[in-house]
Amino acid sequence: MAALAFPKGFHWGAATASYQIEGAWQADGKGESIWDRFSHTPGRVKHGHTGDIACDSYHHFREDVALLREMGLTSYRFSLSWPRIQPNGRGAPNETGLDYYARLIDCLLDAGIRPFPTLYHWDLPQALEDAGGWPNRDLAGRFAEYAEVVVRALGDRCKSWMIFNEPNIFTTMGYLIGIHAPGRREPENFLRATHTVNLAHGDAFRAMRSAQRDLVIGSAFNMTACEPATDSQQDIAAAERWHRFMNEWFLQPSLRGTYPEAYPSGLPRDAMGVKDGDFERIQAPLDFVGINLYTRTIVQAMPADGGPLSLGALPVGIGGDAGPKTDFGWEVWPNALHDILLRITLDYDRPVIEITENGCSYADGPDAQGVVRDTRRTDFYRGYLEAVHRAIQAGADVRGYHAWSLLDNFEWAEGFEQRFGIVWVDFATGKRILKESGRWYGNVARHNALPA
Ligand code: FCB
Repeated sequence: MAALAFPKGFHWGAATASYQIEGAWQADGKGESIWDRFSHTPGRVKHGHTGDIACDSYHHFREDVALLREMGLTSYRFSLSWPRIQPNGRGAPNETGLDYYARLIDCLLDAGIRPFPTLYHWDLPQALEDAGGWPNRDLAGRFAEYAEVVVRALGDRCKSWMIFNEPNIFTTMGYLIGIHAPGRREPENFLRATHTVNLAHGDAFRAMRSAQRDLVIGSAFNMTACEPATDSQQDIAAAERWHRFMNEWFLQPSLRGTYPEAYPSGLPRDAMGVKDGDFERIQAPLDFVGINLYTRTIVQAMPADGGPLSLGALPVGIGGDAGPKTDFGWEVWPNALHDILLRITLDYDRPVIEITENGCSYADGPDAQGVVRDTRRTDFYRGYLEAVHRAIQAGADVRGYHAWSLLDNFEWAEGFEQRFGIVWVDFATGKRILKESGRWYGNVARHNALPA
């Protein structure tokens, strides 16, 4: 088999997020975030782990950039901590917090690596949660103000941005299921939260565009290929509703100004608190669609008596049972990425796509020689990258790929137990070791091709 070449100029990257790697949770005027509060609350995170120190990238970001460089990567996706910049979620910026990101961006630019930041990867200022959190519509305006502050400070030299990371996941996990910060289980408020986030998305997009005309702006959406559990009409329809809800609830509002038809009894407008003019406000004509994908989802129909807030669909596990499982129990199923890339390409008129996250959790650590031989991770990346290549051949306009994650890090409710890094981290000392999968990935990046 010949090597599989990727398009010229394809971006090879790795991704992280502020709370998962930075540590320094109280440094230099940073305010408290909902993840600080949540992880400090006993019983919320496995083993009582917190992101207080994590990978301490706040103090060691130059080592992180050196690792990207060693692998020959050309793009680094990271996120900004809102409470580092606006400790209480409003008002004049904390210059020291902004300066951290300015130094990181300059360091990346000096290394010839594209800085590719996300404005919001889940660490809401606690003060804004105290004011009601995302169910409170006022947060849309607050968020747009934050977006403008950031872009005015950093948009002169950092040109490619993402607004939100996985809006569906942080609203569902935070306000419906309650296993992520802020830990609420409130079905109506969850729906309101999704609508506020869509308003915030549109507002922030316009604020950023008018503050700095030449930015390339997208968002990173969590996606999964939805497959029916059986051939029954009910399961097929349920899988389609799940696709609309999981994959399009935030994408369709931004690109088309409408909500997808996901709920069997129609859009729950009242529960969502929809007002006149909102459908204009939620629009954000993104320059690219960021896709985070890990596996597929098998969907079953649910009995019809679930009430107006029921989707009438139920996912069965994380992935199916045909492929191998990662340490997190997620099925390895590369074709899911191929299928989603083509579905979005078809349904949204061939948008520019960046794969903003893809990866796997395996606990392999250093052997007696200090080498991390994580062959299962290399196999994972080989399989998914082959699927990306196939999707590009079939017409998807994919411009970049980001491994989740650069570093083993704080994996939310799982604490440090799930290791997703292509770099191993000793959390006691902060020591970093490039895993064999990272070496392999660097080789792919340097050749812009998957080896035969
Ligand atoms: C995604 C998140 C990311 C990381 C991976 C494993 O849902 O965006 O922060 O936790 O999953």
